[in-house]
Amino acid sequence: VLSAADKTNVKGIFTKIGGHGDDYGAETLDRMFTVYPQTKTYFPHFDVSHGSAQIKAHGKKVVAALVEAVNHIDDIAGALSKLSDLHAHKLRVDPANFKLLGQCFLVVVGIHHPAALTPEVHASLDKFLCAVSTVLTAKYR
Ligand code: HEM
Repeated sequence: VLSAADKTNVKGIFTKIGGHGDDYGAETLDRMFTVYPQTKTYFPHFDVSHGSAQIKAHGKKVVAALVEAVNHIDDIAGALSKLSDLHAHKLRVDPANFKLLGQCFLVVVGIHHPAALTPEVHASLDKFLCAVSTVLTAKYR
């Protein structure tokens, strides 16, 4: 459960991310596909080469969903309900992959905002990404 301090930390770091979100999303996917090549199997229809237009477009969507979750941090399940249906029923992404994407996002934020990603903010952002992953994998059965 995200504490009041976690929510403040998450909102703060997303304010810092600001307009860089689209780029960070693409960089996150790029890193995930490179470091965890098994994740590419969900994107057979994508050009997953470094910096591809599809990676850029998809990175933008993923970060937009994270921003949506930040903006509805007290009701992430409600905010991402449709996305949860999509990942569980249609895409059937193995839940283990969410951890991998989350780790890559943490690395990207850390590289671009080393001073802002204090241990406390890191812990809060990690908890937030876990909460988002829990929502997106909640409807599997
Ligand atoms: C699609 C967000 C994790 C695989 C999407 C879309 C969003 C999204 C916003 C687009 C939905 C639409 O077009 O209506 C997220 C978020 C994640 C996450 C916020 C976790 C924080 C993952 C993971 C994988 C994955 C871990 C697999 C490794 C896919 C695939 C699509 C998709 C294959 C469809 C892509 C396409 O054909 O355009 N996701 N996702 N997602 N996601 Fe995720």
